[in-house]
Amino acid sequence: MTLIETLEKLSNACGVAGREEEVRSLMKKFLKPYVDEVVEDKLGNVIGIKKGDKNAPKVMLAAHMDEIGLLVKIISKEGFLHFAKMGGIDDRLLLAQKVMVYTEKGPLHGIIGSKPPHIQKEEERKRVLSWDELFIDIGAESREEAEKMGVGIGDTVCFDVKFARIGKNIVIGKAFDDRVACAVMIEAMKGLQKTECTVYAVGTVQEEVGLRGATTSAFGIDPDFGIALDVTIAGDTPGVKEIEAPVKMNKGPSLTIADSGLIVHPKVLRLLIDAAKEKKIPYQLETGLPGSTDAARISLTRSGVPSGVISIPTRYIHSPTSMLSLKDAENAVKLTIAAVQKIPEY
Ligand code: CO
Ligand code: ZN
Repeated sequence: MTLIETLEKLSNACGVAGREEEVRSLMKKFLKPYVDEVVEDKLGNVIGIKKGDKNAPKVMLAAHMDEIGLLVKIISKEGFLHFAKMGGIDDRLLLAQKVMVYTEKGPLHGIIGSKPPHIQKEEERKRVLSWDELFIDIGAESREEAEKMGVGIGDTVCFDVKFARIGKNIVIGKAFDDRVACAVMIEAMKGLQKTECTVYAVGTVQEEVGLRGATTSAFGIDPDFGIALDVTIAGDTPGVKEIEAPVKMNKGPSLTIADSGLIVHPKVLRLLIDAAKEKKIPYQLETGLPGSTDAARISLTRSGVPSGVISIPTRYIHSPTSMLSLKDAENAVKLTIAAVQKIPEY
C-alpha cells in the first residue's frame, strides 16, 4: 500500500482514547510485513520490532493511535444521548456535526443537536453552546429504543468524516492527529531495509488524555533514543499571527526545539537537522509550543532518553476535519528513515 492508501484507512477508522481497537488491528496488519515481530503490551500499545545489530542503539518511534472524540454519558428518557468529551475539543465545533456512535451492535449514525436558532433567545444565539447543552440525536424515540439499538453508557462517538483527496497533494479527513504519523511510521519501516539500530515502531494509546501509552511502552522498551511522530499546527490560515504558529503547510516536516513538556535533547536536534540537510529534505523549526507529544514521556523514562519530535504541519487540528499536504508527510517519512540510519553516529 502507498502512504495515501494507508492514511485513508487509518483516518476513516475510529479510535477515541482508550478505545483504539479498530486502529490497533490496522496498525498490526500494516506494520507486520516490514518488521521482525509485532507485539501488543498490556495497555494496548502496538510495537513493531525490527532487529538491528547486537549492541547497537535501540530507537523508539512513537505515533499515537488514539483521537479526540466523545463518550455517551447519559441516555435521556426521550432517547437523546448526552456526552462527555475525550481530549481537547473546542465546544464551538461540536454543533450540527454528523457523528458515528459505536455500540455493541455496531455503529449508528447521529447528529449533534441543539435548540433550533428560530426559537433561541437573542442572548442564547450570541454565545457558544457548551458541550453539556448539546446532545446526540440518533432518531430513537425513547431510552428503551436507544438501548435496543445497542447504545450503552460509555460507547464511543467519532466524527463522521470521510477521507478525501482534494488536490494533487492535499488531503482532508478525520483524526490526522495522529493517523498521518501512524502512516508515516509504517512507510518509514517499509523504507528501512537494513538498519544497524534496533527499531521499535510504537502505535501508542491514550496520548490525547495525557501521553499515557508512551509512558508504559517506553518503560518496557527502555530505548536509547526516542522520536515522536505527530502533527503540529500549520499557522498559514487567515487570522493566525506568525508569532503564534510559524509553521506552514507544504514547507516540510517541523522539528520541535521545545514545547511545554519537552526540551529536545541537543544531540537529537542536531541528528535530525543533519539528516535533513544531508538528504536535502525541507524542514521547519518551531519552539514555544503550548502542547506536547509522546516524546515528553519517552524522554523522562527511567534514567532519561534523548528524544525529539518530527511533526507534520496540519490545518484545523482537533476539529472534525483536518487538512495536510502529502508532500510534508512524504518528507517526514524520508526524514525518519534518514535519522534512524544516522543514529549510530551520535
Ligand atoms: Co492531538
Ligand atoms: Zn497528536
